[in-house]
Amino acid sequence: MSVHAERRTFAIISHPDAGKTTMTEKLLLYGGALHIAGAVKSRKAARHAVSDWMEMEKEKGISITSSVLQFDHEGKRFNLLDTPGHADFSEDTYRTLAAVDSAIMLMDNAKGVEPRTLRLFEVCRMRKLPVISFINKMDRPGLDPLDLMDQVAQKLEIRTVAANWPIGEGKEFEGVYDLRSRKVHLFERVGPGGTDIVPELVLDLDDPVVVERIGQERYDQLLESVELLQEAGDDWSIEDFLAGEVTPFFFGSAMTNFGVGPLLEAIGELCPGPTSRPSVDGDRAPEDPSFSGFIFKIQANMNPRHRDRIAFMRVVSGTFERDMEVTVASTGKTIKLRKPHSFMASERSIVEEALPGDIVGLYDPGELRIGDTLYVGERVEFQGIPRFAPEHFARVQLKDPTKRKHLQNGLQQLSQEGTIQLFYREGLGKADPYLGAVGLLQFEVLKARLMDEYRTKADLERAPFTVARWIAGEPSGLAWLQQRSDYVLVEDRYGHPVVLSGSPWALDYALSEAKGLKLLDVSPLGGEE
Ligand code: G4P
Repeated sequence: MSVHAERRTFAIISHPDAGKTTMTEKLLLYGGALHIAGAVKSRKAARHAVSDWMEMEKEKGISITSSVLQFDHEGKRFNLLDTPGHADFSEDTYRTLAAVDSAIMLMDNAKGVEPRTLRLFEVCRMRKLPVISFINKMDRPGLDPLDLMDQVAQKLEIRTVAANWPIGEGKEFEGVYDLRSRKVHLFERVGPGGTDIVPELVLDLDDPVVVERIGQERYDQLLESVELLQEAGDDWSIEDFLAGEVTPFFFGSAMTNFGVGPLLEAIGELCPGPTSRPSVDGDRAPEDPSFSGFIFKIQANMNPRHRDRIAFMRVVSGTFERDMEVTVASTGKTIKLRKPHSFMASERSIVEEALPGDIVGLYDPGELRIGDTLYVGERVEFQGIPRFAPEHFARVQLKDPTKRKHLQNGLQQLSQEGTIQLFYREGLGKADPYLGAVGLLQFEVLKARLMDEYRTKADLERAPFTVARWIAGEPSGLAWLQQRSDYVLVEDRYGHPVVLSGSPWALDYALSEAKGLKLLDVSPLGGEE
């Protein structure tokens, strides 16, 4: 097996409070990267409010280390990409999923599928990503495990299969039974909060110690469940998992560390190494010796004294080397990649070499955009990263009218970078567009950057929409919408028509009435600006 196949580049997707921060920390603990485990928690503590986040960025310059956590475990390199949640939830969260090869869908056992679980899963489905389901907080009472699997199957329309099964729940949660290896894993509680790896006893199902530890009643229940699962459960097939058609379920408790070990093993064992990436002229395989990569996130420095930005690049094929000269596919320009950063330790460190699946932080003097392909040798251009439907809308109130030109430049530039989206209104040209954001923090970032970089003070007035959809399908669908005065039609920066609405029901109504209408929650790719 080639070296790059030994990489696992993945993200955890979840609704806030399901336990992503805790799980991230515990994966690092189990992966032997203790020194960074503490950093995750402190980052979360520092991001209670938007203003704290901005302050933090100002103090630290660009904080990138916590965006990609890299650790080596049992001969494999794990790249865990952070998908921001909470206050800093934004379009970046979705874009990060463009750069991973698999995802862990973490759910609270008392809640199951929540709204953000659903939205993030939809992005995974779009990419046909393999998704492992992890039911967290088993140390507390929750929904029945079978009902949870059923809920995922119904709401996410994906086949579900138990990879392991919980033994007891709440205070009596003692371990899991691994359906593939047919082994019982019993964990031992040590101290509060699970700051250390917990002792784990791995036994055959008929080992007398199992009954001794869990009691006859729970043992009988376990046998019954196992029998039921074997009879009624969906078949497990690695091919279907890799195609994103079935999701295996794992149970545990990130807080007490129960079940974290089996999850990490499963990521190593089941999740794919670096996969091929579709380009405009066919797929580029990771084995291809020529270097290629793409930019999936750009983080601007909020400190006005340091104008630099960091572009996050995922290596797709070949070997990336420090000081390499690469071509940017969209502009044809050749640039030298100086001081690339890796994310190995808690400090940023200069990377000498990176392989497919790795993420490299590049200093960007303003040349790069989200979705850009970088390559050496034969030209390649990967399919772009779509825009995701915003959920918050606003218009700019300019304080000083003489700054109109600055404002327009700023908005253009920042929308190209992906900070916000612009929606142009009919008859107004590029003037006074609606701004759209997936997360409110994007608006704060926009205001701060307009001020710092374009010397333009702008206030934002919220606009009364909650949904945006790209209009597709037959022209008759668009025509139906155009005739109505209760739908606001705008264009994105590529000229694709978009409908804005204050209620999802209004769009459901349009879909039921307008012949041939299709509405998309991700943008069509590309187009001319
Ligand atoms: P998030 O990043 O997905 O938002 O979740 P986070 O890890 O911050 O967890 C949210 C809350 O759930 C935290 O409690 C955390 O301790 C708790 N939690 C996480 N995993 C488990 C688990 O396996 N079992 C139980 N019982 N709780 C879990 P908090 O009170 O908000 O914060 P803290 O004071 O514990 O840090």
